[in-house]
Amino acid sequence: MISQQVLKPGDKLPSLRKLAQQLSVSIPTVKQAYYHLEGQGRIYSKEKSGYFLFNGEQNTLPRRCKLPINPTQVNKQSLIEQVYEGIHAPHEAKFGIANPVTAMGDEAILAKMMRSALKQAGEQLLQYGAMDGLLKLKQQIVQRYLHMGLSVVADDIVITNGAQEALAIALQCVTQPGDVVAIESPGYFGIIELIENLGLQAIEIPVCPDDGLWLEDLAHALTKHDVKACVCSTSINNPIGSFMPDSRRQSLLQMLVENNVTLIEDDVYGDLYFTKHRGKPAQYYAQPGQVITCDSFSKTAAPSYRVGWMLAPGHAARARRYKRALSCSSSLINQWVLAEYLASGAYDRHLKKLRLRLQENKQKMLACIRSAFPIETRISDPRGGCVVWLELGASIDGGTLFNMAMAQGISLTPGQLFSASERFQNCIRLSYGLPWQDKHEASLKRLGELVQVLSDKKRGP
Ligand SMILES: Cc1ncc(COP(=O)(O)O)c(C=O)c1O
Repeated sequence: MISQQVLKPGDKLPSLRKLAQQLSVSIPTVKQAYYHLEGQGRIYSKEKSGYFLFNGEQNTLPRRCKLPINPTQVNKQSLIEQVYEGIHAPHEAKFGIANPVTAMGDEAILAKMMRSALKQAGEQLLQYGAMDGLLKLKQQIVQRYLHMGLSVVADDIVITNGAQEALAIALQCVTQPGDVVAIESPGYFGIIELIENLGLQAIEIPVCPDDGLWLEDLAHALTKHDVKACVCSTSINNPIGSFMPDSRRQSLLQMLVENNVTLIEDDVYGDLYFTKHRGKPAQYYAQPGQVITCDSFSKTAAPSYRVGWMLAPGHAARARRYKRALSCSSSLINQWVLAEYLASGAYDRHLKKLRLRLQENKQKMLACIRSAFPIETRISDPRGGCVVWLELGASIDGGTLFNMAMAQGISLTPGQLFSASERFQNCIRLSYGLPWQDKHEASLKRLGELVQVLSDKKRGP
């Protein structure tokens, strides 16, 4: 009806009941279809009025943000600390934590494998493991890269305590305090915190909601500043959910290589894609030394295992030294269980289900936001991962909304956390990586009301 222009921009769509009757399908089927259209930004719902067709011209994605053109000394730690503590406290609706496995965990299988590991090799598994990781886990990781067409050797892999440690080691391998590092903006606050702690400076490069890092802006920054490394999610960005196509990953790498800049790629959401295929890590296109890939099982299996890795051809010897100095080794028993989990095929089966569940959750969350938030709200359309990024009305402060929402048992992450400078004050990130329940719809409605209160207050009587 939309493509044949039976429905024109602004028209009301048929009611769920009417369309279900007309097409001889169930009402939930029509509702699901409307959720999808709403998620794509083609229709929107108004409370008690039904669904309406958007004006085709309307772009509802967050806009490209003007960022500082010079490197920034980062000073975000106290804000990050405050929000981090807040969002990890118990809440009715935990939209503040990006923990996709809670949408669909595989606890029963992992528990069984843990019991069997203890039975088989208990004494050995409670000791210190090899400093750079358990060989049989590394071999499983090598196999996974081989499936992506990437030929790597176990010696180039260092197992770490989550991707966070991998990122920290990678930065230390290629920078000195005071150096300039290019980062995504908005980008994951863990990287911003690392930059602050390592005494580095950040140059922020904007992220396009569709395709990831704006390469033109990066090219400009590279001509102006002596950038030593670029940390970037080559697959799916947190918090915007963009997906960088393979051709752009290649262009990104080429640009960095020409400027002698090491790419530190953060691929933690790589397996949680909603696109047809998984993107290839930039490492696939690189020569040794050009890219350090950081990844983990935190977003796909169990964040508490704290098992991640870095794939660092050309940097592995240095990375091992840092790993030893920082934490000796990572949990042997957890690595063992993960190796068994991967080898059994259960991990891949779980990933398939998790991706589907996250896509369902995304559609539900976007539908709720579109009906409950003021019409001027701009919403990203995640191509993977578990978070959505909202640009609220210009006068709304994400920090104030954070405090108001927390007081009502709803957690969220204020936008300021995702910038090394003071950008994104009117933005927030919400996670749909949770076991979706009716209470989440009610909480989103409540959140939409709070946003409305704030925008009415600013507008005045
Ligand atoms: C983009 C991104 N990179 C890295 C990490 C850190 O992952 P890990 O928990 O494996 O240390 C996170 C965690 O939230 C993340 O969102």
